[in-house]
Amino acid sequence: MDRISRALEQARSKISKVHNESDAVPAKPIQYSSSRKISLEPDVLRENRVIIGLDDERIVDTYGLLRTRVLQVMKQNNWKTLGITSPNTSAGKSVTAINLSISIAQDHNHSVLLVDADLRKPGVCKTLGIEVEYGLNNYLLEESSLDDIFIHPEIKRLVMVPSNRVHGGASELLSSPRMIEFIEHSRQRYPERIVVFDLPPIMVGDDVVGLSQHLDALLLVVEDGKTQSNEFKQALELLKDVNIAGVVLNKSEVVHKPSEYY
Ligand SMILES: Nc1ncnc2c1ncn2[C@@H]1O[C@H](COP(=O)(O)OP(=O)(O)OP(=O)(O)O)[C@@H](O)[C@H]1O
Ligand SMILES: [Mg+2]
Repeated sequence: MDRISRALEQARSKISKVHNESDAVPAKPIQYSSSRKISLEPDVLRENRVIIGLDDERIVDTYGLLRTRVLQVMKQNNWKTLGITSPNTSAGKSVTAINLSISIAQDHNHSVLLVDADLRKPGVCKTLGIEVEYGLNNYLLEESSLDDIFIHPEIKRLVMVPSNRVHGGASELLSSPRMIEFIEHSRQRYPERIVVFDLPPIMVGDDVVGLSQHLDALLLVVEDGKTQSNEFKQALELLKDVNIAGVVLNKSEVVHKPSEYY
């Protein structure tokens, strides 16, 4: 067993302690004949706070808890597509999108498609240490087919669509008929699959406000001590017609001691 598989097994056994969804339908294996297989580098994962590279049970459990809460609310509402965003930059959207996706994929009842939809500053592959060949931008610009853009990062039940950076026109591409068709295709292809979109910040351009109309819900990431309450209120005002699945308080300095936990 290689290091990634071992780390994955370890993380899975830890997460299963905090998760119980006995009534969920077992996921069918995803068959992506044309998706490229990609190896991940454990040191890069660890450095970039990706849970399969981490040995910290507290962090893995926290994402397990987030997964349980997100899956509950998505199931209750029959939501399949979830955008991850924040009022401003660097709150931890990409790290949250990746770790939540891995955590959901570790649940045998679900599969995940993680889409990097931050065309201005794509963060998913950068965080995972993967080189992007073709991505969502190329598909939206009709430079590549759908088959070209799927990659398989050797994490069971997780498939990704990366993106390259575009210089201008991100908002138009994200609200184009081709993008809307892509979202619908992703939503309908596998009934048990959750589709996670890593999005740009709400206040940078109108990418999120436009795209969120086509997503079932958003998960908001706020950075402890940095996101201002007026920015948060402004963001909610811009998204008043959008379903909010929840809010993640990221980079919090508050640590719960074991005694407090019990
Ligand atoms: N919980 C956390 N604790 C400490 N550092 C974190 C945490 N989450 C993310 N980071 C770090 O914060 C930085 C920004 O994270 P990330 O790229 O996920 O943010 P982002 O919101 O996607 O940024 P952008 O707006 O540029 O897309 C990275 O260096 C990441 O490692
Ligand atoms: Mg990002």
